Amino acid sequence: MTTSSAPGKVYLFGEHAVVYGEPAVPCAIERRARVTVEERDDDRVRVEADELTLDGFTVMWGGESGDRPDVNVPTPLVEAAMGYIDNALEQARDAADAPDAGFDITVESDIPLGAGLGSSAAVVVAGIDAGTRELGVELDPIEIADRAYQVEYEVQDGQASRADTFCSAMGGVVRVQGDDCRRIEGVSNLPFVVGYDGGSGDTGELVAGVRKLKEEYEFAENTVESIGDIVRNGESALRNDDLEELGRLMDFNHGLLSALGVSGRTLDSMVWTAREADALGAKLTGAGGGGCIVALDRTEQTKTALEYTPGCEAAFRAELDTDGVRVESE
Ligand code: MEV
Repeated sequence: MTTSSAPGKVYLFGEHAVVYGEPAVPCAIERRARVTVEERDDDRVRVEADELTLDGFTVMWGGESGDRPDVNVPTPLVEAAMGYIDNALEQARDAADAPDAGFDITVESDIPLGAGLGSSAAVVVAGIDAGTRELGVELDPIEIADRAYQVEYEVQDGQASRADTFCSAMGGVVRVQGDDCRRIEGVSNLPFVVGYDGGSGDTGELVAGVRKLKEEYEFAENTVESIGDIVRNGESALRNDDLEELGRLMDFNHGLLSALGVSGRTLDSMVWTAREADALGAKLTGAGGGGCIVALDRTEQTKTALEYTPGCEAAFRAELDTDGVRVESE
């Protein structure tokens, strides 16, 4: 039996634009998905998933892969989660040259599903690591990131960048532009606060919406390029440890994401709460629609203000996680 874990992430800058070749800077946070894999003596797969989100709902599933789970979260989210797990196992079988391996899987996660914190990437990365180790093969994190990207690409119908999967596999602060993925070293802890509205967005749909706007309007295309400029400015602010500038750029980035139609009422409302609480900056994180915002605040003010904001279900401080994927027990 093998358990591996991998972190979720927030986007400091660059979601959506990264799909079109602009750079993005996601940061791993200390919220993890843990996947336990035990090889079976037949070729079947059984999945149990507990606590696939923060507060509010729980997925309890003790069925065969392919059955319909009995859950109180939207079925498409759970079906998507199963697609990720099935494909991650396929990658593990491929890497270990064990095409008929069957598994009992347990997924535990403290990253809300579909909320912009990289839950699917973390489950896939941890699943590939645990699955291959269980079959006697150890992959390096770069190969895990690459295989996890293939899974996201497949499940999201080709609408995925390498950002989420690379960040989850490597940990820390990373820069992703197309196939060029690297860690940014030497960043001191960033005072992230996350606000979660209890909802989620459909990544595929939101990415397709931005693509359509881009095709229709030249200024939407320019907006995507401007997000790239924000990221480039953000990189020098990171090098200079200039939190004030990082905050201003996050505000800008949120405005441009709103213009591209991927924010939402509760995300905007949480962003405004953060600004009024004197956060250095705030933006949605991930695909948008619903889910999470991330703010920068050295004080407790933003977290407290978010806790009293209608529509905000949970607010928490998110520490940077310098560890990527890791084995917990073998
Ligand atoms: C989703 O977490 C981030 C997007 O940029 C899509 C991707 O990069 O795959 C919206």
